[in-house]
Amino acid sequence: MTVNPAMRIAVGQLAPLIADVDENLMTVSNILQKAEKVDVDVLVLPELCNSGYAFKNKGELSASAEPIPEGPMSQELLAWSGGGRLVVAGICERTSEGFFNSAVVVGSGEHITTYHKIHLFLDEKDWFLPGDEEPPVIEYRGYRFGVMVCFDWAFPEVARVLTLQGAQVILHPANIVLPYCQDAMVTRSIENRVYTATANRTGIERGLTFSGASQITDVKGSRLTQMGRDETGLAWVDIDPSLADDKAITERNDLLEDRRPSLYRRLISDD
Ligand code: ACM
Repeated sequence: MTVNPAMRIAVGQLAPLIADVDENLMTVSNILQKAEKVDVDVLVLPELCNSGYAFKNKGELSASAEPIPEGPMSQELLAWSGGGRLVVAGICERTSEGFFNSAVVVGSGEHITTYHKIHLFLDEKDWFLPGDEEPPVIEYRGYRFGVMVCFDWAFPEVARVLTLQGAQVILHPANIVLPYCQDAMVTRSIENRVYTATANRTGIERGLTFSGASQITDVKGSRLTQMGRDETGLAWVDIDPSLADDKAITERNDLLEDRRPSLYRRLISDD
């Protein structure tokens, strides 16, 4: 298979307005236009970018949620991706089962998959059902991309499971509240030898301050780019995802082969 030697990957940072789906759609649309102008191949947008985060009640949540892929934000992303691009964005999703804090993945005009966040943070537990499927890795243009959402960062098992599925790049929509996430994602890169792209939101919403500082790390945990706390817009870098296939830490240590899973049984059982 022929693959491109490099891809341009970007993180979009914005301050969604709570429950203002039209305004949020316009803001995202502006970022998509910028991303198109600079030839971005892969774009990550923040968690819940159609809806905002701090809902007041179920009515507000319901009015902000959309079905995937029929909803307006999903359709906007599908249209943008039609030129041979991949985008992952956090969506407040309505389904027949209930509401999910989701990451929609669309590429080349197709809905590829939707990930339902599995680790819900604080009051998210009041609004959303937790996902109960393994976070996905999708292949796109010869490379492999894993998806997780915000608070999944606090569970290193998630990035490891994505790595074990072959992810070379972890795409990470976020609405970061705790101050350690960006640093933790540096560690997720180092301990898995993968690129990570965290798209965080910014702004203050009903007393919650979001930390911006969206970033992209390389496979050794160096930050290739990081936005400011209050900045909005886009940051991008060119990467070669195949560098993530080399898991050597020293000439005698391989990150995956040197594991001792028989000694990690407590990860899956209390016995
Ligand atoms: C978070 O998971 N949005 C903190």
